[in-house]
Amino acid sequence: MRKPIAVILGLAVAAAGLAPATAEDKKKEDPKIIVPYVPTHPKVVAAMLKLAAVKEGETVYDLGCGDGRIVIAAVKDFKAKKGLGIDFNPERLKDCKKSVEEAKLTEEQTKALTFKQGDVLKMTPVDFKDVDVVTLYLLPSVNRELKPHLLKGLKPGARVVSHDFDMGEDWKEDKKEEVEADRTHTIYLWTIKGEKGK
Ligand SMILES: C[S@@+](CC[C@H](N)C(=O)[O-])C[C@H]1O[C@@H](n2cnc3c(N)ncnc32)[C@H](O)[C@@H]1O
Repeated sequence: MRKPIAVILGLAVAAAGLAPATAEDKKKEDPKIIVPYVPTHPKVVAAMLKLAAVKEGETVYDLGCGDGRIVIAAVKDFKAKKGLGIDFNPERLKDCKKSVEEAKLTEEQTKALTFKQGDVLKMTPVDFKDVDVVTLYLLPSVNRELKPHLLKGLKPGARVVSHDFDMGEDWKEDKKEEVEADRTHTIYLWTIKGEKGK
């Protein structure tokens, strides 16, 4: 219990602008961004995609994608056919471009990746109907705001994985794992149920 609280406090302090990653980052960030940029440790990225059981040919979206590392790993290491990352901050989209350049991807893998600027809370750029896996590293309040959109938009069998934060008492995770990296990270998995409540 103590770790997530520490993480929430850390993210909240950074979100309040008291401890931005750098002064330059703070200057560039739109004040409406309520979740600051904290990249997921590579070991946790791999564990999230494994927990979601990303398969060859699937489509993975990361809402609030930072430097794009999750969808890049989905395409490169898990053979996803499509990865879409959405981030509010144009600086992060520049980071995504750099990450793609550094990832030594094939032409096909590069073509499989798209990064878009957008506010995931407004949901305007997001159509979930063909999405197999959604990954999140946001905040508890943002997860709760996204929950109805995910439940309504995702197809049965689609999976949602969240780093550090759950979806609240009324959407209990199907699985939860702890991953040891620079600290103990908790990752959560939900599977969208079928029409018969399966
Ligand atoms: C904690 S970081 C996670 C980055 C990446 N998903 C990862 O796990 O490495 C959260 C990211 O969400 C972005 N973000 C915050 N609020 C957002 C919003 N309303 N819409 C889209 N992106 C947002 C931030 O710019 C930041 O890059």
